[in-house]
Amino acid sequence: MKAKVSLVKEFKIGDVDPNLFSSFIEQLGRAVYTGIYEPGHPTADSQGLRGDVMNLVKDLRVSLVRYPGGNFLSGYDWKDGIGPKDKRPVRLDRAWHTIETNEFGIDEFVDWAKKSGTQVLAAVNMGTGTPQDAGDMVEYCNYPSGTYWSDLRIANGHKEPHNIKYWCVGNEMDGPWQICHLDAVDYGKKALETMKIMKWTDDSIKTVVCGSATTDIPTYPEWDRIVLEHTYDYADYISIHRYYENFGNDDDFLASFYDMDKFIKTSTATCDYVKAYKRSNKTMMLSFDEWNIWYQQNQKPHPWEKAPRLLEDKYSLLDALAFGGLAITLLNHADRVKVACLAQLVNVIAPIFAEPGKGAYRQTIYWPFRDISLYGRGVSLQPVVTSDKKITDKYGEVPAVIFASVYNEETKEISIFALNTSKSENSETTIDLRSFSNTKMIMRTELTGTDLSAQNSLENPDKVAPSKVELSEGDNGIYTLNLKKASWNVIRFSAE
Ligand code: AHR
Repeated sequence: MKAKVSLVKEFKIGDVDPNLFSSFIEQLGRAVYTGIYEPGHPTADSQGLRGDVMNLVKDLRVSLVRYPGGNFLSGYDWKDGIGPKDKRPVRLDRAWHTIETNEFGIDEFVDWAKKSGTQVLAAVNMGTGTPQDAGDMVEYCNYPSGTYWSDLRIANGHKEPHNIKYWCVGNEMDGPWQICHLDAVDYGKKALETMKIMKWTDDSIKTVVCGSATTDIPTYPEWDRIVLEHTYDYADYISIHRYYENFGNDDDFLASFYDMDKFIKTSTATCDYVKAYKRSNKTMMLSFDEWNIWYQQNQKPHPWEKAPRLLEDKYSLLDALAFGGLAITLLNHADRVKVACLAQLVNVIAPIFAEPGKGAYRQTIYWPFRDISLYGRGVSLQPVVTSDKKITDKYGEVPAVIFASVYNEETKEISIFALNTSKSENSETTIDLRSFSNTKMIMRTELTGTDLSAQNSLENPDKVAPSKVELSEGDNGIYTLNLKKASWNVIRFSAE
């Protein structure tokens, strides 16, 4: 099998926003409790924040972490999670059929985010919550002092404002599974009035309105059009969400990138339709604030419990490869996708897995995310690709090898991310860098293996991990490499 990718320095898709490397912690299952927060854990600090998990988070260089939900958000009163812990109410979380102790809330999360080197993408409840609640939360978090809510924050131990810049206005409000789900017109009106209060409290914040929760929902993409027609002037981003799972056809699964690509293109077109309709000069950006592999078919009913084991998917090498295809797609839409949150971060459909009282380890999907986060910063270049094709049942003909590439103008380094989706054939791949001078390969890794079902575990944490590949010499800027069958590859060059 053969593939070729040519990169031209001037042929830019757009700047990669650092917020493309964001993630998500929902007050769900063990994401918070025994995930990032476990008082008494051997690595926990005085606030009960797990040090082992925090180190793995830091290593991912996550930009924003969305919090507190998720479906949880639509029934959550943020005021339950502030103040003295022994006075906080224990509630039923009806979204996930869980008992919520509220031991952990926005103040603790902000502290965790600071210690972890990330920033917060907060979310306000548009289900049972009111526009007033949302405005009060912005005041509590961001107003310096001298008002009821800001003084309460100070009394609760945070003299300095949290200065949370990014705010989601609800979560998946198009989904009938959402507590107090709304139709597009009702959500659009509520979101607009809510953003007015939020931005009139702090005019420096950026807001994200709910777009479609999935392409499978019948209201997609009409929902997005209607919501944007109501909110265009106040919103800075519209969110989209998408999860993929393997229903038994590996080739379809490995081609999930194709569906994500179509989704982004349709959402972008919908934004631009509304821009034209509104005669607006503003270009709406996308916040892909939930994306991942998620085996939703594994969900089972469970009793009411505190911090149960929910959505604890264990990822295989094959999952990591499909995930890599999604990561490539996000980079190739860097001009319009300005925020993207890997959902989620710890324990719940997550790259990091932590056992209570024991250690934490990296799941397979950790690696492609870390690769793009470490090396995907700069300008996304348009890869000009020719590749052999594969025929899939679900999407028809798709390229067998896909690429994304980022040029970092400061360090003068090019990073190429490549996925060979063929399970049977290696790809003889040509990389044409003649548009750059003095190129030199400086790093090459691959994530691959003979057992695509291999997973990591506490006992065997490095079973699936990238390995170094010998560097190749170029011939006047042209490099010929062998990309192994079923492999995720990072190839980096210095250049001028
Ligand atoms: O991330 C898991 C769930 O997926 C979130 O709570 C919800 O927003 C989405 O449906």
